Amino acid sequence: MLLSATLTIVGDFLVVFHLTRLVWRCWCGLRQFVLSQFWQVDVRTFGQWAVVTGATSGIGKAYAIELARRGLDVVLVSRSDKKLQLVAKEIEDLHGRKTRTIRVDFTDGHRIYPAIAEELHGLEIGVLVNNVGMSISDCFAYFLETPDAEQKITDIVNCNVLSVPQMTRLILPGMVQRGTGLIINISSQAAVRPQPLLSIYSASKIFVTYFSQCLHAEYKSKGIIVQCVAPFMVSTNMTKNVAVSSFVKSAPSFARDALNTVGHSSYTSGCLSHALQVGDTNTLIYGQTVGRRSILTSCLSIVPQDAALTLMPDWVWMSSVFIRKLRNLPKLSDGRACREKEKLSEKEE
Ligand SMILES: NC(=O)c1ccc[n+]([C@@H]2O[C@H](COP(=O)([O-])OP(=O)(O)OC[C@H]3O[C@@H](n4cnc5c(N)ncnc54)[C@H](OP(=O)(O)O)[C@@H]3O)[C@@H](O)[C@H]2O)c1
Repeated sequence: MLLSATLTIVGDFLVVFHLTRLVWRCWCGLRQFVLSQFWQVDVRTFGQWAVVTGATSGIGKAYAIELARRGLDVVLVSRSDKKLQLVAKEIEDLHGRKTRTIRVDFTDGHRIYPAIAEELHGLEIGVLVNNVGMSISDCFAYFLETPDAEQKITDIVNCNVLSVPQMTRLILPGMVQRGTGLIINISSQAAVRPQPLLSIYSASKIFVTYFSQCLHAEYKSKGIIVQCVAPFMVSTNMTKNVAVSSFVKSAPSFARDALNTVGHSSYTSGCLSHALQVGDTNTLIYGQTVGRRSILTSCLSIVPQDAALTLMPDWVWMSSVFIRKLRNLPKLSDGRACREKEKLSEKEE
């Protein structure tokens, strides 16, 4: 009798506990991806200027334009003068904000930072977007298949890893002094779990994730928000401008959605469709820690191959058989070429 009463109380408690947790998580997801469209943080409160690395195309350019649209002046940092001038003009024409440009190649390592510091001197920088990043190649490859490996390894570490703490080191002190600031670090879903055949890229991105989360914990009490954004597929040069769909975001739409999540989450997939695709419950519904996949959210994914990858348990994901299969997938660019050929023959018919 006593035992059954105790079991009933424990059972009731567990049901109430899990229901409360579910409701809380749904509320957090709703707030992060839906209500945030109407309930945005005013980025102008962080300071006058935004600095965006890798700002001449893709996600970086989209962030730069979106931040200017929201009222900030923008420092564009990238490696091509011509492209920098074009983006600067676009921002000035579109949104009438001031721009500055800094031409650097992040693969050059630590020696570029004194020059960047000089260019940034005296600016009230409220927002830093550490976006610059490169992949090793556009197909899955074993580590030893890396072309020109000695150079490529150094380049990717300098560009994807070193740039993030180095740029932060230059800009964070001013933010701490003013007691406000926003640092957005672009990681990737390739960091949510180890990604064999993209080993250096995947490892470089988990550095960004952990660095962001540690920094957020260290500096949130000083008024600084450090947000880690881990996108899935965005149509950019890096992804060979793969066609935009409900699941592949265009860079402008991604940057808009991702900026809306500022203040609502310090770790995010950036947009609802990416959160659903990766079946990442914590990103989708909790939005604070590196996520775990759930069958429930994975089932919400409508893209079959993405859903299949999401549902795949780690022991399959990391198995030699699966890795061999993955290795034989066509390059992204080959896929695109095939699709273009198909479209052409459809038109001819
Ligand atoms: N696209 C996706 O699906 C996706 C998914 C997850 C994460 N990400 C991450 O998002 C970030 C942006 O990627 P993206 O897709 O927008 O790439 P992207 O279109 O290739 O743009 C990269 C930007 O960085 C600049 N850049 C590249 N290497 C540089 C270097 N060594 N020095 C200075 N600037 C350099 C590029 O300038 P140039 O125009 O001169 O090359 C360009 O402005 C990366 O960190 C990437 O890892 C992207």
